[in-house]
Amino acid sequence: MDKKFYITTPIYYPSANFHIGHCYTTIICDAIARFKRLEGYDTFYLTGTDEHGQKIQKKAEEAGVTPKEYVDKIVDDAKDLWKSLGITYDKFIRTTDEEHVECVQKIFKQLYDQGDIYKGEYKGLYCTPCESFWTESQLVEGKCPDCGRDVYEVTEEAYFLKLSKYQDKLVKYYEEHPDFIEPLSRKNEMINNFIKPGLDDLCVSRTSFDWGIPVTFDDKHVVYVWLDALSNYISALGYKSNDETLFNKYWPADVHVVGKEIVRFHVIIWPIMLMALGLELPKKVFGHGWLVIDGGKISKSFGNGKDPREFIKAYGVDAVRYFVLREVPFGSDGNFSEEALINRTNADLVNVLGNLVNRTISMNHKYFDGVVLNADVSEQLDKDLIESTTKLHELVIKNVEDLKVGDALQEIFEVLRKANKYIDDTTPWILAKDETKQDRLKTVLYNLLETIRICAVYLQAFIPETAEKIFNQLNTKQTSFESAKEFGLLEQNIKLNEPIHLFDRIEVKE
Ligand code: ME8
Ligand code: MG
Repeated sequence: MDKKFYITTPIYYPSANFHIGHCYTTIICDAIARFKRLEGYDTFYLTGTDEHGQKIQKKAEEAGVTPKEYVDKIVDDAKDLWKSLGITYDKFIRTTDEEHVECVQKIFKQLYDQGDIYKGEYKGLYCTPCESFWTESQLVEGKCPDCGRDVYEVTEEAYFLKLSKYQDKLVKYYEEHPDFIEPLSRKNEMINNFIKPGLDDLCVSRTSFDWGIPVTFDDKHVVYVWLDALSNYISALGYKSNDETLFNKYWPADVHVVGKEIVRFHVIIWPIMLMALGLELPKKVFGHGWLVIDGGKISKSFGNGKDPREFIKAYGVDAVRYFVLREVPFGSDGNFSEEALINRTNADLVNVLGNLVNRTISMNHKYFDGVVLNADVSEQLDKDLIESTTKLHELVIKNVEDLKVGDALQEIFEVLRKANKYIDDTTPWILAKDETKQDRLKTVLYNLLETIRICAVYLQAFIPETAEKIFNQLNTKQTSFESAKEFGLLEQNIKLNEPIHLFDRIEVKE
């Protein structure tokens, strides 16, 4: 079995502080990376920032600082945000890093030397805030199809990457690798909207601004953003540096997780760059939907992006992580609102998980002084709970494999719900009053504790702080991924710690 796993987020533009939309991809990738590590994969999780380009240069000028000073501040802030969200990236790449700059320069030179990049003249319609060129036919009512703002015509000397040369090879690759683009609907969109009409060669250098990586052999040009940005996935691993150990170990990526509006760059330009370089293609590009507010994408430039740390402060990091992971069906858009966050927290984290853990630990303290006991007095009723809990292993692995983290969580919470119902059905408080039912009571509480333990093993990937609090209360050493495969591994005769509230009900203020 291939035991390595390389996962990436896009590198974000540090043009303004990050909002909850950026957290979305980063949290999902973090959950997947944590899960793969739990499973025993040698995992590399990459995120970072895409720091060059005209937009950043302009922002810096407006702020009266150098572009580097401008991005440094936002990058520091982003790292603080990722820390507060418990993001476990293995590397944070910045496109201003020296190794990245050198790598891009070498890639550009190689592609030029072998004839895949040539000099020409660029005429196009450009949207400055989005840093995107558009053709007439892509505009929506004459405006940028992404943001709806004005575009203007540009003509300048520029270098081009020969996308057209690789067009047929690319389509063939899609056909031979049906899992390459997901969800499937995005693949059809790519073929019909971009490839079938014929690929235009891509402008990969600019002369009208200078905040970019200089082209080594023609220094009035800087590398234009997408060639620069996409290279991060291999420059971060040391490709073309004097130490390619990480590159040899982790490339090709197992999955690039990206927003739907940048899928086309990842499944057209990036594979063609890699083909031209003679490298393997990533195994999968997954295009996710957006977090939207009232149907509009959350974004700082539209002024609806609140600092995510405000939500973390108010509701706790795991409430935010859980909401993002659970609420949005992966692949489609999901609605974000503070109200939805509160409702989701109360419905699942408070009522289901918090309630179950608190009731169970408290009862065990009350009836058995917190000592874990099992007397194996089983009833038919137990079977369903035990079976569901044991089956989780397969279900959770499969869902994460398919990048359906929301579904994985749904399965886990289904079991937690069953456990709550099991309490209602077995009525431990009635058993407690009956001298002859003490062994049955031990079994009931053991089954509940064991169900909680097993669920917490998986929850480590999604809501790690909460999982740790559960393990602390259980006082167990059985926290490994393997240990969740088998029901009954919770140590007997250990003493539970005092129950604590995992989540407090959030009252909605009018
Ligand atoms: O596109 N909901 O950077 P970026 C979900 N630098 N995802 C969102 C979102 C929202 N409301 N808002 C933004 C770039 N994102 C390039 C990438 S990769 C080689 C270069 C996601 O900061 C967006 O969909 O504009 C994208 O995947 C990511 O944040 C970065 O967006
Ligand atoms: Mg964008």
